[in-house]
Amino acid sequence: MRALISSIEERLDAPTAKGLAQAVSRAIRDATLLPGDQLPPIRRVAEELMMSPTTVSAAWQLLARSGTIRSDGRRGTTVAPTARGGERYTRALRHESPVSLDLSTGIPDSALLPALVPVLSALTDPTTPSSYLDDPVLDELRTELTRDWPYAADDLLVVDGAMDALDLATRALLRPGDLVLVENPGFPPLLDLLEDRGVDVVGVPLDETGLHLDGVEALLPRRPAAVVIQPRGQNPTGVSMSPTRARRLAALLKGHDCVVIEDDSSGPISTSAPISLGAWIPDQVLHIRSYSKSHGPDLRIAALSGPDSLLAPVRHARAIGQGWTSRLLQRVLAGLLRDEDCARGIASAGAEYARRRELVVGRLAEHGIDVAGTDGLNIWVPVRDEAAAVLRLASQGIAVTPGSPFSVERLAGPEGHVRVTTGLIRADHLTVADLIAEAASAGAWTAQHR
Ligand SMILES: Cc1ncc(COP(=O)(O)O)c(C=O)c1O
Repeated sequence: MRALISSIEERLDAPTAKGLAQAVSRAIRDATLLPGDQLPPIRRVAEELMMSPTTVSAAWQLLARSGTIRSDGRRGTTVAPTARGGERYTRALRHESPVSLDLSTGIPDSALLPALVPVLSALTDPTTPSSYLDDPVLDELRTELTRDWPYAADDLLVVDGAMDALDLATRALLRPGDLVLVENPGFPPLLDLLEDRGVDVVGVPLDETGLHLDGVEALLPRRPAAVVIQPRGQNPTGVSMSPTRARRLAALLKGHDCVVIEDDSSGPISTSAPISLGAWIPDQVLHIRSYSKSHGPDLRIAALSGPDSLLAPVRHARAIGQGWTSRLLQRVLAGLLRDEDCARGIASAGAEYARRRELVVGRLAEHGIDVAGTDGLNIWVPVRDEAAAVLRLASQGIAVTPGSPFSVERLAGPEGHVRVTTGLIRADHLTVADLIAEAASAGAWTAQHR
């Protein structure tokens, strides 16, 4: 027992219930603990690790809820058998690395990003601006960007990714105490950013075609300064706004002193067409399109459009900061957008992401789990016990993101969601979906485990 406790201790990052549960789960994943192995009594673990019995008991509860350990009659608490059907996969994964399949990141599959060599090798001359006051947007890129922009905007700005655009726009246009409406669930870095700006954030729920109109209408008397939405492949739900919802939302907001900030972070990998409220209320819209998912997160490029009244303060905020996005990178993006092979590659990447998502979503539906969204890299899976589901998948080498950080308010109770980046599942979609389905129903902690 001492050796076993030491092996758990070696894997312990934090002396908390969650930390201990993760340490046990790591020991199971690297086969230090095997199905059927007995766990030491709670009191003994508490003594040896200098933790309180309550903390150890909470860790055991979490592991039991995730189906990782179970009460085994007189043998006490033992490591649960690996789930049927998933065992081979789990063993296969175990050989690779502690997290063999990381579906927690929300990033694109590097194998589906365009090749850079043809474009880079065409960049033979240096790209020095003649002055620091040159137009920060290259004409050749502006021409490419406007080709499939969803509406006729006054002008465009090129920035260092959608996060940079959100940072600049919120800094330039919002004041502490302003009311800002966001999608709930929403993108955690945006929620952090808004908190940092000192604004009042209220979440509005989404359905399969976008933001709830009733929710927005009910908040209009409180005079929101901004509404932030993701028009396509919403992270985390994968919802794309329908043209009807966009038109009705525009009609609702028209004439209010309220900016609509659209974060089209899925951009060109989306299977739905570009869409913006700018088609109806261009004077109130800042539309951001990121090229991170389609052309690579490390290009750090997004474009931002809007009326002069909204773009001018953003331009000013940028001018007193780093000034412009590297012209070298702008030329790379312009080259990629011009290249027909690259455009075809991006369209097939979008189709491949859709195929991966559909395989997983279809299998989850066979398990009785409904997933609403239809676009982007992620799916939003309802689970009975969020912490247990994350832990269960982790013990099988699969990392997913717990749903609670995406929620505007703190949720009570264990049930919730996990966000799974299906865009990164290259093979064995059905097996992975089976494991996700099992994790979604994990959480049956009953008196018999105590
Ligand atoms: C909703 C949302 N906004 C912004 C970003 C960041 O995009 P960028 O890499 O262009 O900064 C992401 C990235 O996942 C995202 O999902």
